[in-house]
Amino acid sequence: MTEDFGNSTVPVIAIDGPSGAGKGTIGRRLAEELGFAFLDSGALYRLSALAATHHGISLEDEESIGTLAAHLDVQFRSNPENGDGLILLEGEDVTHAIRTEACGLAASKVAALPSVRQALLERQWAFREAPGLVADGRDMGSVVFPDAPLKVYLTATAEARAQRRYNQLLEKGGTVKIDEILSDITQRDEQDQQRTVAPLRALPDAVLIDTTDMNIDQVIDKLTSLCQERLGIAT
Ligand code: DC
Repeated sequence: MTEDFGNSTVPVIAIDGPSGAGKGTIGRRLAEELGFAFLDSGALYRLSALAATHHGISLEDEESIGTLAAHLDVQFRSNPENGDGLILLEGEDVTHAIRTEACGLAASKVAALPSVRQALLERQWAFREAPGLVADGRDMGSVVFPDAPLKVYLTATAEARAQRRYNQLLEKGGTVKIDEILSDITQRDEQDQQRTVAPLRALPDAVLIDTTDMNIDQVIDKLTSLCQERLGIAT
């Protein structure tokens, strides 16, 4: 399994890019339209950070967090009430707890630790099941699935990404300041781009899509036509 990045006969659509570029929403929808599985790799880093906090482990303690990540007791399920995704960590529903800005920043710190990235590799490869996988993250095309037949780098200006996050939080009824969101996003971009292991960057073989002035439907249209061109898959 280690040498062929999971089941190499199964096509992967690798979607990488910075926080808030819409990878989650778009990746999930594309997976649904294609009937593919979906990997939210960021959730695994968020879960590792949350587990560390729950167990009182410092985010700098690489050895302990690596061990924790290798043995994460996580279940990805569907909520029987509404069909939405449900994430259980050690049996506890953490679906919402892992989505906070604080958990995102902690995840970004934990994600810079080589032992954590190594520990999560096999878990990510296990998602590669027929008929295909849409994988969303920062290193899907560079490290986890370098053999993916379609690699996409989804981005948008930091301001546009902050505005989208702000709108989402407002919809949920939160009280938030857009300046704070923008500064969190900028800090996370920096952490993710500057780290020495698997830094976030657009690969030369990835199709770059700047979504600053695009809506979700336009991005999905672009991606489905790329799937047709590159993989011969029609939705
Ligand atoms: O996509 P996200 O915001 O849920 O990711 C949370 C953090 O995890 C992000 O700041 C960087 C890190 N991450 C990573 O390093 N590699 C991935 N494949 C996915 C996420």
